[in-house]
Amino acid sequence: MRIEHNFDLSGHNTFGMKVRCACFVEYESLAELSGLDFDSLPKPFKHIGEGSNLLFTGDFPGTILHSAIRKIKYVDMGLDELSVVVGAGVRWDALVEELCSHELWGAENLSLIPGEVGAAAVQNIGAYGVEFKDLVSGVSCFDMQERRSCKFTAAECGYGYRDSVFKNSGGRYIVISALLRVSRKPRPRLDYKGLEGIDASSPAKVREAVIQLRRSKLPDPSETGNAGSFFKNPVVSALDFTRIADAAGSSEVPHYVLPDGFIKVPAAWLIDQCGFKGETCGGAAVWQKQPLVLVNATGDATPEDILELERRITALVHEKFGVRLSPEVEHIGDI
Ligand code: EPU
Repeated sequence: MRIEHNFDLSGHNTFGMKVRCACFVEYESLAELSGLDFDSLPKPFKHIGEGSNLLFTGDFPGTILHSAIRKIKYVDMGLDELSVVVGAGVRWDALVEELCSHELWGAENLSLIPGEVGAAAVQNIGAYGVEFKDLVSGVSCFDMQERRSCKFTAAECGYGYRDSVFKNSGGRYIVISALLRVSRKPRPRLDYKGLEGIDASSPAKVREAVIQLRRSKLPDPSETGNAGSFFKNPVVSALDFTRIADAAGSSEVPHYVLPDGFIKVPAAWLIDQCGFKGETCGGAAVWQKQPLVLVNATGDATPEDILELERRITALVHEKFGVRLSPEVEHIGDI
């Protein structure tokens, strides 16, 4: 167990914000976490993963918790299925790489997504037509309110688009491990634009194609600070969609009709139409190849630079299309 005070969080957020927290606690087991003397630690508590989907908007006055539970255990379910119990502190992409190297199908479309398994379970990460919820059979947590461990079935996790019961619990549930189901039998999912026609002879081949696709569009956080998609893709009613189409004039609005009749519009397209590609504010910028991503372009961007870009984008997209974008990246801090 590691407990540090007045801790520098620069290495714990992929945006590279130079912020500190009053206390940082990293634990290696459920026993270590449940044995913590929470009353003696600065409040509030906030649990983070790799810090790849958050923006610290200032110094954090409380305790940042981080899991170093990094066990991976395989349970053979017979036939073609395998269950894998994965600790919350395992790096998501290291897990995907391992599964692919064992010729196990299921996670390959989620290759190269930054972050750890715990955050993947909270956030229901998704890419190229697959979401975390498609793999999960259960999640084990620590309940901060009752101070005991508890389990959720996949249905009880309440998964939606980048959403779960954990995300809406106000920090009550800390993910300890996730139980995932993977398959020996090939089950490629290649319907997403860019994956059609690729070599899908093994999960490793699909992984390769996904990595190539992501690298062509998204900045590598180890080179340019960022937290992936900064905004969610808005889901609008048919009526609102007509308004967007009217505002778009002659340009055709890309969209996906969801099973419930609502319509998902790519935020990247809305932002692009407002001319934001490459826009800068202090050290922050809108990524040229994918304007849904805001970056710490100079390495010295401040939280305020990013927040100002966010404000400009939200205001102009709203003015032009009547759509209010909501951030996908979680904002943490006290500004
Ligand atoms: N587009 C533009 N201009 C651009 C780029 C994109 O107009 O410069 C439009 C195009 O119409 C394109 C559409 O946006 O077809 C969608 O773009 P893309 O396929 O790149 O996906 P996205 O909807 O922007 C989502 C996820 C990504 C995930 C990709 C691939 C969200 C908020 N983002 O992005 O997830 O990798 O799909 O599945 O749902 C993340 O969550 O951090 C993330 C990167």
